[in-house]
Amino acid sequence: MSGVDLRGLIAGAGDEHERWARTINPQFVRVLRTIGFDRTWASADGAHLTDADGNRYLDMLGGFGMYNVGRNNPRIRTALIEALELDTPGMLAMGVTALPGLLAEALIERTPPRLERVLFTSTGTEAVEAALKLGRAATKRTRVLSLDHGFHGLTLGSLSANGNDEFTSRFQPLLPGFERVRLGDLDALERELRREDVAVFLVEPIQGKGVHLPPAGYLEAAQELCRRYGTLFCVDEVQTGFGRTGTLFAFEHWGLEPDLVPVAKSLSGGYVPVGGLLMSRAVHEAVFDSMENALAHGSTFAPNELAMAAGLATLHELDEQRLVERSAMLGARLLERTRPLVDEFEVVREVRGLGLMWAIEFGEPEHSGRRTWRMIERMQPGLFAQLVVVPLFSEHRILTQVAGHNMAVLKVLPPLMLGDDDLDEFVEALATTVARAQRMPSSLTKFALTAAGLR
Ligand SMILES: Cc1ncc(COP(=O)(O)O)c(C=O)c1O
Repeated sequence: MSGVDLRGLIAGAGDEHERWARTINPQFVRVLRTIGFDRTWASADGAHLTDADGNRYLDMLGGFGMYNVGRNNPRIRTALIEALELDTPGMLAMGVTALPGLLAEALIERTPPRLERVLFTSTGTEAVEAALKLGRAATKRTRVLSLDHGFHGLTLGSLSANGNDEFTSRFQPLLPGFERVRLGDLDALERELRREDVAVFLVEPIQGKGVHLPPAGYLEAAQELCRRYGTLFCVDEVQTGFGRTGTLFAFEHWGLEPDLVPVAKSLSGGYVPVGGLLMSRAVHEAVFDSMENALAHGSTFAPNELAMAAGLATLHELDEQRLVERSAMLGARLLERTRPLVDEFEVVREVRGLGLMWAIEFGEPEHSGRRTWRMIERMQPGLFAQLVVVPLFSEHRILTQVAGHNMAVLKVLPPLMLGDDDLDEFVEALATTVARAQRMPSSLTKFALTAAGLR
């Protein structure tokens, strides 16, 4: 019996950028071509990618943070193959199997006692949607508060909680009852919560767009206010979970005990879609309150067996390889090694991060390079960061990203199994690249002009 010949199909695929542009998204391919990211990728392992010409690239972007255990992790792969070979019954729809319960138990064991139930999804945004829906039903309230610049996914409910105009403005009207407060402004938060009609307060423990850490005491006080006024406290760990910030979940840094915790991304080791909402028993029982309501929320593919197998393997891998501790250690070293850049280069305003969620922010220099900075920023706010991201990739073969629209912030979310020498390589390449970008050679200015015409 012959199946599809994937190897042959890939080998004979020809120009994949052309096909992608024709069939999936021409504007995305245009972006890749403009910034020179249009490589043909051949393989990946751990924190490295290899292109068709055999060049190796250091992956400091980690698929937007879904490769905490490294790309193509062989132990996750083995677990997936084993799950396939076991011919498990798959999703029964009207029945249950072992793996979802085992993963739910493993997650609950690793979180504070308040979190007792898991509702699996296939993505992060679905886990957030579940938090919003269940939170509304459980509290019998309708309003949802989130933070300016917050990001929780791009489906309509999550988007309604999004605090960035670039994502929301073209998709109005969004869901009613959603409002935002400023990160750090406890008075504004209390003013809203005091009305006792807010179902859920939704926050990222560290904001992904721009990598903004909460001011000291903010999250603890926010949780306390939520408890006082009967609002569910939802900490979105989709990006920060599973060791990213140096603890298994970022909320551990502040000793928080949220009522709702959406997770996703790296739980499956990056192999298959996975997501979940960890929640208190009270929330769960308020919604799933009778046999009639036993299936009040869910979706066909969640929980799927492969995601569950990968999830169990990923938690095991994080423990076995001590990757959470490694993230904390490497993160501290990354900060220590990059903080001097603030004094060394006028154009570097700040470096910040926790664990291996790290960013460098650029700002207008006082003296040298000031005029060019202004010219570049007039073309497109935040464009300077692209002047670092692009040569890091093209000259040093290091993959990074700009941390969001209109911001001069470069961000990294590397696999947690990153080597010490990989980290050193990144820091050295970064310093060289920033030095050059600050001087703004004409080739870079030319690139900036092209890039500014992207949109
Ligand atoms: C904090 C946060 N929440 C939710 C999401 C959405 O997850 P997904 O892309 O799996 O829908 C993301 C994605 O980047 C995220 O960073």
